[in-house]
Amino acid sequence: MSAIESVLKENRLFTPSDSFVKQANITLEQYHALCEKAATDYEGFWRDLANQYISWHTSFTQVLDESQAPFYRWFADGELNVSYNCLDRHLADKSDKTALIFERDDGTSEHISYRQLYERVCTFANALKAQGVTKGDRVIIYMPMVAEAVIAMQACARIGAIHSVVFGGFSAGAVKDRIKDANAKLIITANESIRGGKRTPLKATVDEALSEGDCPSVEKVIVLQRTETAVSWTAHRDIWWHDAIANQANTCEPTVMNAEDPLFILYTSGSTGKPKGVEHHTAGYLLGAIVSMHWVFDYKPNDIYWCTADVGWITGHTYICYGPLAVGATQVIFEGVPTYPDASRFWQMIEKHRVTTFYTAPTAIRSLIKLGADLPEKFDLSSLRLLGSVGEPINPEAWMWYYEKVGRSRCPIVDTWWQTETGSNMIAPLPGAFPIKPGSCTLPLPGIMVDIVDETGKSVPAEQGGSLVIRRPFPSLLRTVYNDDKRFVSAYFPEEFNHQLYLAGDSATRDAQGYIRIMGRIDDVLNVSGHRLGTMEIESALVAHPLVAEAAVVGRPHDIKGEAVVAFVMLKGERPTGEEATKVAAELKAWVAKEIGKIAQPDDIRFGENLPKTRSGKIMRRLLRSLAKGEEVTQDISTLENPHVMEQLSQST
Ligand code: PRX
Repeated sequence: MSAIESVLKENRLFTPSDSFVKQANITLEQYHALCEKAATDYEGFWRDLANQYISWHTSFTQVLDESQAPFYRWFADGELNVSYNCLDRHLADKSDKTALIFERDDGTSEHISYRQLYERVCTFANALKAQGVTKGDRVIIYMPMVAEAVIAMQACARIGAIHSVVFGGFSAGAVKDRIKDANAKLIITANESIRGGKRTPLKATVDEALSEGDCPSVEKVIVLQRTETAVSWTAHRDIWWHDAIANQANTCEPTVMNAEDPLFILYTSGSTGKPKGVEHHTAGYLLGAIVSMHWVFDYKPNDIYWCTADVGWITGHTYICYGPLAVGATQVIFEGVPTYPDASRFWQMIEKHRVTTFYTAPTAIRSLIKLGADLPEKFDLSSLRLLGSVGEPINPEAWMWYYEKVGRSRCPIVDTWWQTETGSNMIAPLPGAFPIKPGSCTLPLPGIMVDIVDETGKSVPAEQGGSLVIRRPFPSLLRTVYNDDKRFVSAYFPEEFNHQLYLAGDSATRDAQGYIRIMGRIDDVLNVSGHRLGTMEIESALVAHPLVAEAAVVGRPHDIKGEAVVAFVMLKGERPTGEEATKVAAELKAWVAKEIGKIAQPDDIRFGENLPKTRSGKIMRRLLRSLAKGEEVTQDISTLENPHVMEQLSQST
């Protein structure tokens, strides 16, 4: 049975225990009251939350400004600083509380209190200023998962610099594209990262990205010395982190920001062109992060919270760098990988740090089931009270295992649907308010007007698939695509829906109870191990190889990764076969890893003398998807320009 079919047949409901309900931040009654308030007084609903949860420097008078729709503005005359909200406001009563428990790859760990984190952020913020960074400048952060990554992000927020974090697994080409698009002034990196005992040369990758001299905007590179390994050095441009902070004061007045000043840019894949710089602004983003910490993660002051994401992704922004710190939580941050030194690392760390709230991705769960389904039993996981899932649909089998083996049938699972663009959780259980169902992210958060529609924008009936949209703007929604307002409008508020509905790009169904199931992307975006990849991006990388004439990339279901990447390639010369094909395929895989990063590397490359095209020259992707899955092609291929290539393309190399 395929994952999607098994999701559709799922009807089990799991009701939260009385003891969970008793202590929950949001009960069923409160949930109904919030929904009612949002339905009857939408602006008042958000105004109250913004006043309740954010410490404002200057209060706002207007809640939502729709005059430039779909360029919505929230709390637009308010002033605040995000770093102040994450650090300074906790100093009065949580100065000695642990903010970060940083566990290194080698298993050693370090506790950093709110006071210490505040001082380290201030010191580094002063260092950035000393290097010439001012409000509005773009700063690229290309770091390992270490405390300094969070410190760097918070320091940018403190002085009003706009950070753009680039995942440490991306290649020089991807780093360069992002530097150029953001016109970045400064880069923060480390000499190396260490994950699973393996070292990755981050600084050398930055050097390569900057080497051809075509990133003239970059004035300085700050380098954290994570290991003893020496790196090459460009005088006047490169500066060690420890030298940059030497002699800097450990206090730094937070820069007063307007609610609608940009906070960060994060690049993500879309269906066309290069990755988009998703731009989030100060107050709305912060509000989404805080509200969901309280509602979805049921945050309590005694929690030990752990989100296993990397700060290179939106989950690491909202649910590591900003949300948990804004509510004053103690959180674990982890440098390594779940399988090192062995597949019990997560369970061992939960036991060691007495983790209460654990948030991870289905792909990690599936791979850990495979590597040791019984391993969690060997550890004391009694501290856990809530589990979370994010990034891709979780199949009911993995959900049940997570629920029973990790949560010991005690802990609700919050399956959270959201996106880089939405900034914070959109559809997710409020775990003390209503029952959960395997494979369903359940119901939209109060105030998030989710709908499932047909191509005309009309709601579809229950159990019928459709396109997932959000009918009203909400505070944490992206404001634009960096430097590309037009793309923002066409990608997210398209003409087909009169520029009024936010188009998520996912398809979904709703059951009779209103519970939502995400079916997957409806555009040319793949979700490989929870990472979003544009098929076009991989195709562009492939055709940039001197041997390749044309390439088409599709996804294929994969047990662990969710989706695998299959590339259909036509070379400029003859179609390779046998050993030659294996050799060229390996070369092309390595090429994509170099152009984009290992995560984008095709799992399977197939060569044809041509690609299946209609007589008007369009590549028939639907056919390729069937071929990739190994399905028998039942479609009529008689209109194909070149039907004989089908046989060639069904063969893996
Ligand atoms: O297809 C949905 C899937 O991930 C996409 C967003 O990817 P990204 O911007 O990288 O953000 C990932 C982390 C929030 C969505 O369009 N997705 C995310 N969460 C879920 C999901 N699919 C199903 N269930 C989820 N809980």
